Amino acid sequence: TTGVAHELNNPLNNTGLFVGNAVDLLELGGTDTGPIVRALRQALQQVGKATEIISHLRTFGRAAPVSREPISLRQVIERSLALMREQLRLREIEVTADLGPAEPVVVGNPIQLEQVFLNLLTNARDAVADAPRKAIRISGAVGPAAVEVAVADTGPGIPPGLERRIFDPFFTTKEVGHGTGLGLSITYGIVKEHGGTISVVSRPGEGATFLLQLPLAAAETNEP
Ligand SMILES: Nc1ncnc2c1ncn2[C@@H]1O[C@H](COP(=O)(O)OP(=O)(O)OP(=O)(O)O)[C@@H](O)[C@H]1O
Ligand SMILES: [Mg+2]
Repeated sequence: TTGVAHELNNPLNNTGLFVGNAVDLLELGGTDTGPIVRALRQALQQVGKATEIISHLRTFGRAAPVSREPISLRQVIERSLALMREQLRLREIEVTADLGPAEPVVVGNPIQLEQVFLNLLTNARDAVADAPRKAIRISGAVGPAAVEVAVADTGPGIPPGLERRIFDPFFTTKEVGHGTGLGLSITYGIVKEHGGTISVVSRPGEGATFLLQLPLAAAETNEP
């Protein structure tokens, strides 16, 4: 789905450029409406493109049944970390993952679950960009029926009052071209589809911690 985010970035950026052109033309006080109308039509065309991508995403999401299988959550987390490791290392972000001795198995789609952690790690990466201490910590605890995973960072945390809105599609505080605001809404959807929950805890100055709960596969498969 990261691909979709990138595909959407393009028409959204272009829309911004064309609308910007129209604003410039108006501000310069030009009396010729031709170029202004042309710029706005180009913007409209780009909005159409973005809408098309979204509707594809929707049909695709519904039509294609995703396969489900018992999977090791440890493996999912390790694969996501492996994909992010170089990026995090280059930004001097310290990463620790402590899942304890348990081997939680969940029933789900490995690609989708990987996407969940990639989205959370990407957000954490961005959050610690200007922080004095840059660290991300993944920790896990296994209960009788569910596994809880926490993804914590040392960034500025979520501004009070925005804890729920960050899960809305297209909600972003990032600059144009740096975020589409789809990451957490996609994450939320995947977690829900897997019968789990996701929430965020954020205290000022203490960074953000995303808490993920996923139901375990049949209990007997979770013995070490
Ligand atoms: N770890 C975090 N620390 C602080 N703020 C966060 C964190 N994770 C998410 N947010 C806030 O939630 C917003 C929405 O996140 P989301 O992942 O949905 O979109 P995005 O990262 O802005 O863009 P995209 O994921 O589509 O590239 C972010 O713009 C940011 O304001
Ligand atoms: Mg994101």
